[in-house]
Amino acid sequence: MLTAARNEMLTRVGPGTAMGALLRRYWQPIAGASELDGKNPIKPVRLLGEDLVLYRDRGGRYGLIDRHCPHRRADMTYGWIEDKGIRCSYHGWLVDESGTCLEQPYEDTTNPKPSKAGCETKAYPVKECAGLLFAYLGPKPAPELPVWEPFTWRNGFREIVLADVPCNWFQCQENSCDPVHFEWMHDNWGARLRGGEANAAPKHLKLKFEEFEHGFVYKRVREGQSEQDRYWTVGRVALWPNGFYLGSHFEWRVPVDDENTLSVAWFFMRVPKEREPYVQERVPVWKSPIRADDGRWITSHVINQDIVAWVGQGRIADRTKENLRSSDVGIAMMRSRFFKEIETMEAGKEPGGIIRSANAAACIALPNMAREFNTEGVALADYDKDPILRQRLKQFRHHYGQPPEVRRAFVAAMGIAGP
Ligand code: FES
Ligand SMILES: [Fe+2]
Repeated sequence: MLTAARNEMLTRVGPGTAMGALLRRYWQPIAGASELDGKNPIKPVRLLGEDLVLYRDRGGRYGLIDRHCPHRRADMTYGWIEDKGIRCSYHGWLVDESGTCLEQPYEDTTNPKPSKAGCETKAYPVKECAGLLFAYLGPKPAPELPVWEPFTWRNGFREIVLADVPCNWFQCQENSCDPVHFEWMHDNWGARLRGGEANAAPKHLKLKFEEFEHGFVYKRVREGQSEQDRYWTVGRVALWPNGFYLGSHFEWRVPVDDENTLSVAWFFMRVPKEREPYVQERVPVWKSPIRADDGRWITSHVINQDIVAWVGQGRIADRTKENLRSSDVGIAMMRSRFFKEIETMEAGKEPGGIIRSANAAACIALPNMAREFNTEGVALADYDKDPILRQRLKQFRHHYGQPPEVRRAFVAAMGIAGP
């Protein structure tokens, strides 16, 4: 349980808030690069309570600038890109990715020495990695963008799935350190949704939560498992500050504002040995719907089920009314780490997990239960021996609504019969 004031501190993310300032110290994934390589390379983005526009100009530079034009505030989403920068469609002002105003057509025509002083617009750096676009909204200089080891893996089919989740980011992130919900939400409830009756999923018998440089690791033993199992020897990672890493995929809970979150998930599926070498030219990006036509949340897929839990807690979960127990040790650890890092930052020091050395950021290994499969690969016949891999070949179970063209690309990459 938290006081209302502490709950506010965890959940408010706009400019000028403590948590907003902390989260701005870290690169945040905001889109897939392939979203901007089509006909419309301009996308409106709301991030940490700020309205922005993301674009890729003809020179291939990414920009993330104020959504409103520095002239008289027209919407830059309806502008167009040029060789360098983006031009407003109202009176043609041109600005670049640094926020510099390059052209003011009427002034440039009529005034021999036009001054553009004071006409800069807000601009944030953007970097591409593994098909994702990351933005940094904090004080300069920006830290290094962490290149997690899975981003360097080869011979894999990657895809990015986005979902608009109408609730605060922190309740989504608490789910990253909550092993027991797998038993109930995904196993027992999943069985009910498929028409089953019994609460027959293997029970959790033992939990352990550990902190490390890049977040928390949770470990568990369930009925039928032992401490020799990789779920106990390796575990899964609640990635600091707002990610989740499960061995072959990442999820981030990116705050849009206090009451909305962009769920960003990045998936890697190693192609069978016989398909190597495999080079994926373009990482597909798609949006997963979360509501059915009847207005109820979609419950058929794993992350959609998680979303039912997150939104069910309210737009901003009321933590003055909860009852934490021993299953929630990881959640309590995570909250106290956030409070501590806010204090560190407010004392003028660098909060944890920020990387300043390019070498250190180049390939960061994380605890990974699926390392051999993802780095060494196996023959197609061996996928059948592993229930998770077998299932993964058959269908994409993480998010509802995978588009047929993404399924076709996956099937072609894997060399299996489609769709
Ligand atoms: S409002 Fe954008 S150029 Fe005038
Ligand atoms: Fe889950």
